[in-house]
Amino acid sequence: MFSLNSNYLKLKAGYLFPEIARRVQEFITTNPSQADHLIRCGIGDVTEPLPLAVREAMHVAVDEMGSRSTFRGYGPEQGYDFLRRAIQQSEYAARGIPIAEDEIFISDGSKCDGGNILDILGAHPSVALMDPVYPVYVDTNVMAGHTGNAREDGSYEGIVYLECTPENHFIPSLPQRRVDLIYLCYPNNPTGAVASHQALRAWVQYAREHQALLLFDAAYEAYIQDKTLPHSIYEIPGARQCAIEFRSFSKKAGFTGVRCAFTIIPKELLALSATGEKKPLHALWHRRFTTKFNGVSYITQRGAAAIYTPEGAAQVQALLDHYIGNAAILREAVIAAGLTVYGGVHAPYLWVKSPQGETSWQTFDRFLHDYRIVITPGSGFGRAGEGYFRISAFNSRENILEVVKRLSSC
Ligand code: MLT
Repeated sequence: MFSLNSNYLKLKAGYLFPEIARRVQEFITTNPSQADHLIRCGIGDVTEPLPLAVREAMHVAVDEMGSRSTFRGYGPEQGYDFLRRAIQQSEYAARGIPIAEDEIFISDGSKCDGGNILDILGAHPSVALMDPVYPVYVDTNVMAGHTGNAREDGSYEGIVYLECTPENHFIPSLPQRRVDLIYLCYPNNPTGAVASHQALRAWVQYAREHQALLLFDAAYEAYIQDKTLPHSIYEIPGARQCAIEFRSFSKKAGFTGVRCAFTIIPKELLALSATGEKKPLHALWHRRFTTKFNGVSYITQRGAAAIYTPEGAAQVQALLDHYIGNAAILREAVIAAGLTVYGGVHAPYLWVKSPQGETSWQTFDRFLHDYRIVITPGSGFGRAGEGYFRISAFNSRENILEVVKRLSSC
């Protein structure tokens, strides 16, 4: 008989967010009258309408599709020039970062790109991950067969876990042993921590010295408030030789349901072939894109490009101000409730210490039952997340103020 990918059998029961959804559904089933009172601060999903400039651009694009002369069929798999150019100019050239238009690959999401990137890398890389960590990095490496089995505590054999704690400001120490792949995410999901130039310089230096690859997830860069902090790994000299960057319109412009993101692969980024030659990854990713992907829809890419117009940029800023304003309100409320909080300043996530003696899932259950607030248990992000929980600031202002009210009875 044909066989399955046994690596999938190593995965722990469920992906974190479906598991939260299951528990919330169970609560609603046993407490139907409470369903309308639930406030969801669990998964980081945007709640506010798409910016007007985005919607208008999409409407125009829809109309273009209605006329033979402007109709579009298959587009360039790696993205239309108009969007790649807008990204190149606004996200990189404007900051003095040397990225070429054809080093930008438009996709339907960073989650997909983060998993798919493993297709073009060698078969058995050693992998280092921050702990706590966005679970997609872990699970995609398990699926690809880069790990051993799961341990009792949920960690996987073979992965190098880099602990992120308040003591190290959630910036882990360099790995004790050499690794091939290092996943970094700043501003960080889930801790809300942000990395300085100095911190990122150490990682670029490590990667250059050890011929390792940095997979840099910058999905939340738009939330950085301090103008001196880096938005891109390519602000660090030498990063073009050792890093891939993932960016997304999901949290920046409210695109979680629209789907549009991009990944940068610099042409100088080389990896070793089986015969020991150094070859550019750019060509492989391009090949993968043109073979396995037909590109993001024209309508979506027109919507994404609109965020780089003056009106679009102002509307996106208003959206970001809304969510980061929510985070500031939540921070104050959590502190007033006597809890210890991290993050929530340069990121839409607050990382909160569970009250003494409570596990993350116990706090989750208590918040669900006593306050009808859905949070994310820290242990869902890894062993070092135990004893913490994450609150997402993606919500309406009305809901955030209601959370504040409920927390005041904490
Ligand atoms: C989260 O809540 O961690 C994110 O929304 C998940 C994601 O971006 O896929």
